[in-house]
Amino acid sequence: MKEQVRLQKYLAHCGISSRRKAEEIIKQGRVTVSGVVVTSMGEKITPGKDTVMCDGRLVSPPDELIYVLVNKPKGYVTTLSDPQGRPVVTSLVRDIDQRLFPVGRLDLDTEGALLLTNDGELAQKIQHPRFQTNKTYEALVQGHPGQAKLRDLEKGVEIEGKMTAPAVISVIKHLQRQTLVKITIHEGRKRQVKKMFDFVGNPVISLKRIAYGKLYLGKLGTGEHKILNSRDLKKIFL
Ligand code: URA
Repeated sequence: MKEQVRLQKYLAHCGISSRRKAEEIIKQGRVTVSGVVVTSMGEKITPGKDTVMCDGRLVSPPDELIYVLVNKPKGYVTTLSDPQGRPVVTSLVRDIDQRLFPVGRLDLDTEGALLLTNDGELAQKIQHPRFQTNKTYEALVQGHPGQAKLRDLEKGVEIEGKMTAPAVISVIKHLQRQTLVKITIHEGRKRQVKKMFDFVGNPVISLKRIAYGKLYLGKLGTGEHKILNSRDLKKIFL
């Protein structure tokens, strides 16, 4: 809402009332525009420029919902602030003038795709087990876990008394003493990928999340971010 809008429409957009009710409120002399009481219907205002008050209280539009994909570097904490003074992920989006919070978490030493948003509903949906949002990681693990171990991990292993949900795992590359694997899981248990590979005796050396659903990091560099559009958001649930 950047251009001029009718006052009653603006009041409705800001959640004061329905548009028709807003007309009544205006007629009752309860609304001021930049300090002047307005009772006529034709009045237009410029959001962000005119100060609109209703019953003495500032009327403001709801925060724009915003979704950002960050490529978290290692060493950044997935919190809003850190008592130990370590760098926090929200400092990577300082140019965005909204209070954003991370959706889920990545360990301090894990890098890669992390969503930040101010949309609590979408954040809950992504994390809710019912929606089974896939998260894909590239993990460099110690040694060479054979097919049998990988199939066990895919089927589910017991971690802290509870079986892990089915996963999809493939080998990207065998190195001399390590293996680079791709793993897709839809649970979000704490340190889950690391615990899964610990279970089969091939601890994770480094971990990078490369996608939520079919929303991939792509060319986004370490520490960079991009604002997501509705097409990007749909990919999260594919
Ligand atoms: N699994 C882990 O072990 N660590 C993460 O940061 C994410 C998933």
